[in-house]
Amino acid sequence: MRQINIMKKLVVLTGAGMSAESGLKTFRDSGGLWEQYNVYEVATPEAWERDPVLVLRFYNERRKQLLDAVPNEGHLGLVELEKRFDVHIITQNVDDLHERAGSRKVLHLHGEIRKSRSTRNPSRVYDIEGAELNPGDLCELGSQLRPHVVWFGEPVPAIGEAMAVAGEADIFVVIGTSLNVYPAAGLLQYIKPAIPVYIIDPADIPAPGIENVTVIREPAGRGVKTLMELLSKQA
Ligand code: APR
Repeated sequence: MRQINIMKKLVVLTGAGMSAESGLKTFRDSGGLWEQYNVYEVATPEAWERDPVLVLRFYNERRKQLLDAVPNEGHLGLVELEKRFDVHIITQNVDDLHERAGSRKVLHLHGEIRKSRSTRNPSRVYDIEGAELNPGDLCELGSQLRPHVVWFGEPVPAIGEAMAVAGEADIFVVIGTSLNVYPAAGLLQYIKPAIPVYIIDPADIPAPGIENVTVIREPAGRGVKTLMELLSKQA
C-alpha cells in the first residue's frame, strides 16, 4: 500500500511588511504611504470620480517602484516551505513579489497593481505592460481602464475564498500586517481552534482571542527563517 504523504496545509496571511525589505513602503509605519498621501484622495471610488489623474499617478509611482523591487528572503522562504507543506498565501499586498519568488498558490484580497480593469465591465481584467496606466488607456468597450485594486469602501470579492482557505489551515502564519483593515484582519476568526498560529512582525501585533500563538518579533526575512527552524523541530 503506497503511503500517501498528505502535507499539512500552511496558510500565510501577508501584509505590506512582507515587502518592506524589498524596498516597498508600508502604509501605517512612520514614513508609510498614508503619511504621504491622503487615502481619500488616491484610494477610494470617490477619489477616482473626483480626480482620476491623481489616482492613476499614485498607482503609477508605486508600480514603478515595484518594477525595481525584487522578492526578499521572506518571500523565498515561503517558497522553500512548499517542499514540506501545502502552502496557501492570502495576501493584502497588490505587488507580485510572492509570484515572482515562485509561490504557486497566491490569493490577492486587495487586487493586483500590475493589472487594470474596465470601468464598464469589471470582469474584463488586463495586464499592464510597463509601469504606467494613463488617462485615455481604454478597454475594448471604450471605457477608461482603472487599477485592478480594491479601494476603501469597495467589496473584497476574494474574501469568501480566503475564509474557506483559512478554515482549512493546519498552521496559520501572519506576516507583516498591522491587522488594521477588515475583512482581511477578520480571517483569524475563521481558523480552527487551537491550531498553531505564528505572527512574524518587528512590532507587537495583538491577536485577541487567538490561542496557541507563537510571536516571532523579527522582520520577514529573518522571521521566516526562524519559522522554518521551529517547524522543522516539529516534523
Ligand atoms: N517585516 C515584517 N513586518 C514588517 C516589516 C518587516 N521588515 N516592516 C514593517 N512591518 C510590519 C509593521 O510593524 C506593521 O505591523 O508590517 C505591518 C504593516 O502594516 P500596515 O502598514 O498597516 O500594512 P497592512 O497591514 O498590509 O495594511 C492593510 O490597508 O491600506 C490598506 O489596502 C491597504 O492592504 C493594505 C491594508
